[in-house]
Amino acid sequence: MDICRSKTGIRRAIATMRAAGAERIGFVPTMGALHEGHLSLVRMAKARGDRVVVSVFVNPTQFEDPADLAKYPRDDARDLDLLRAEGVDAVFLPGVEEMYPEGAQTIVETTTLSKVLIGALRPGHFRGVATVVTKLFNIVGPDFAVFGEKDYQQLAVIRTMVRDLDMPVEILGHPILRETDGLAMSSRNVRLDPAHRAEATVLSRALDRAEALAARPVTAEELQAEIALTLAEAPAAEVETIDIQDAATLADLSGALERPAVILLAVRFGPVLLIDNRVVTPA
Ligand code: PAF
Repeated sequence: MDICRSKTGIRRAIATMRAAGAERIGFVPTMGALHEGHLSLVRMAKARGDRVVVSVFVNPTQFEDPADLAKYPRDDARDLDLLRAEGVDAVFLPGVEEMYPEGAQTIVETTTLSKVLIGALRPGHFRGVATVVTKLFNIVGPDFAVFGEKDYQQLAVIRTMVRDLDMPVEILGHPILRETDGLAMSSRNVRLDPAHRAEATVLSRALDRAEALAARPVTAEELQAEIALTLAEAPAAEVETIDIQDAATLADLSGALERPAVILLAVRFGPVLLIDNRVVTPA
């Protein structure tokens, strides 16, 4: 496995792959602290391509709070062991100066999508994501890249950016991984105490019921009410958001559901905020 810390190094490694006949190079951008979710993206890239490149870069421009950036977990040695075990061909592991040299001033932003929902709570976050992903695509030049559907808005921002800027990269979404009882896998789940862990299955249950409801004519308001009712079955659940949005544009939906919608849930159990989502297609 090639480990490259410079742009020149990773470009050279990729040129060697192409010269050796690689036709479909898959790319998985990450911020390290790898878990099963990331590894499933790597496996999807391996299954769909003939070479896989992974980047590990904690991108400072997508954090508003310097304290969050400082405490972001980093363990390059462990990440590299995991990637080696998955048979990854090359890892790009740049430092901040390599990615953002002195004087960098160009940004990429999806003007509407980046300002709603999570973007309204974290201004600048999706600008940071879009800018770093553009840079990584320009450096790596992959044929396709894989992102998790768990971060639904991030995936929507990236798909929109790639379409609007004619980037020659196919974007693949990896479905949310779930525990056997339906809870979406997340590194946060281990922080749930046993009682909250048991109650947390209510998120996927609410999404299952909403999906079943959407198989008949239904309004966005009815869906929202049904989800709220299901979530109320878990006494510890503090609902932060139940958003029903257009699946492609993330615009608010109201009235009869007439096109694919995404349901985005954010529910707190004690100190742990869980998110989950489901796309539902009306009857
Ligand atoms: O999802 C992430 O880990 C990050 O937002 C990404 C896409 C690697 C960009 O820094």
